[in-house]
Amino acid sequence: MKRLGDFMKEFRKDFPALMLDDPVAYLDNACVTLKPQSVIDSIQDYYINTPGCGGRSVHRYGTHVSKTISQSRTKLAHFFSSPSVNEIVFTRNATHSLNQIAKGLDWNKGDVVLTTDREHNSNLVPWLQLEQERGIDHRIVRSNQDNTFNLESFEEACAQAGSDLKMVSMSHVGNLDGVEIPVKEITKIAKDYGALVSIDGAQSAPHMSVDVQDLGIDFYSFSIHKMLGPSGMGGLWGRTELLENMRTIQSGGQTVTSSTYDSLEWAKPPSKFEGGLGHFAGMMATGAAIDYLTQLNMDEVHAHEKSLNKIMTEGVKDIPGVSIIGPEDPSKRGGICSLLLDDKLPSHDIALLLDEVAGVMVRSGQHCVHSWFNDKGYNGSLRASAYFYNTEEDVRRFVDTFSEAVHAFS
Ligand SMILES: Cc1ncc(COP(=O)(O)O)c(C=O)c1O
Repeated sequence: MKRLGDFMKEFRKDFPALMLDDPVAYLDNACVTLKPQSVIDSIQDYYINTPGCGGRSVHRYGTHVSKTISQSRTKLAHFFSSPSVNEIVFTRNATHSLNQIAKGLDWNKGDVVLTTDREHNSNLVPWLQLEQERGIDHRIVRSNQDNTFNLESFEEACAQAGSDLKMVSMSHVGNLDGVEIPVKEITKIAKDYGALVSIDGAQSAPHMSVDVQDLGIDFYSFSIHKMLGPSGMGGLWGRTELLENMRTIQSGGQTVTSSTYDSLEWAKPPSKFEGGLGHFAGMMATGAAIDYLTQLNMDEVHAHEKSLNKIMTEGVKDIPGVSIIGPEDPSKRGGICSLLLDDKLPSHDIALLLDEVAGVMVRSGQHCVHSWFNDKGYNGSLRASAYFYNTEEDVRRFVDTFSEAVHAFS
């Protein structure tokens, strides 16, 4: 395992996007991460050397693809401490995983589903859709004033729902603010009511060590494209017995072991959920991404991001017209520094300026958490999100250029 500090220069050399003559300060990692050369090579390797069909064809191409995909699945299973390789399903993205859960389970009118008030649309809209179409009762648990999780409100919501509580579905770490929720405590309480627990791990899987067994949860959705992996790749972990009983939302080739004109035999998970020809290059390159992450210490990754966030927070917190979403203490916001700006400071214009003037790349807008912004009456925020390959120089560049931009607009 390589220590981040000692090897930072070497790590950065692995990322072609960071090795340009005039490298950008890429601080949009909550959206998508950069890719190391090994992942790019692996994608290319598929298209050049084995551009065949995995899981079906028995020729050399097909066999190589099937074998490499199986290795990627095994690596993911180890990465998340899954008890079984077959509990790892490849999906297009975390959104697809969350939809699979919401639309693959059985629901009765009045079944209660709890989310928080700061969910990404991917863990809100499927439940709103089920509310409209099937009559489930979607309720939100309000966070504390500083966006941290309110365990008391959650306990109350569970008690109010009682035996109708069927699902607790929440994001482990919010993309809005970087705030982590206490998943183990939440799960313990939800289980007292017999509810399932689905965790949206899009913002936790890339940044901290995650053990699905230790968390005690039932489902975990993640974005492989936010974990150094190829775009168009995500994943779902689910307990075997739940996956076996869950409907697939994409049936067809690969999802059955046999069919007649009027019957079918479902394949076992994960095949049942991976209908149609898959993103083979992406699945293969996922193995390279996980290899890369596995050489890091995820606790160190998390600590590094927090230390960068401390610099960002210290640098911007006293600027007039700017306030930080979430707790003041940056160590409670991982690598995310999300800024609410005065009306006279348009977030999209400032984001454009940061890139044009200094090559600082951040995200502006509502980050697919429209519900939170609409509830509070805010237009949007400017979000800088760090990853392990970011340096102090990157975040200082953000702070300096942002301060100048605010000055220019004021
Ligand atoms: C918390 C959270 N959930 C879900 C998603 C959706 O992920 P994907 O783009 O992989 O569907 C995101 C993406 O930003 C996210 O941050």
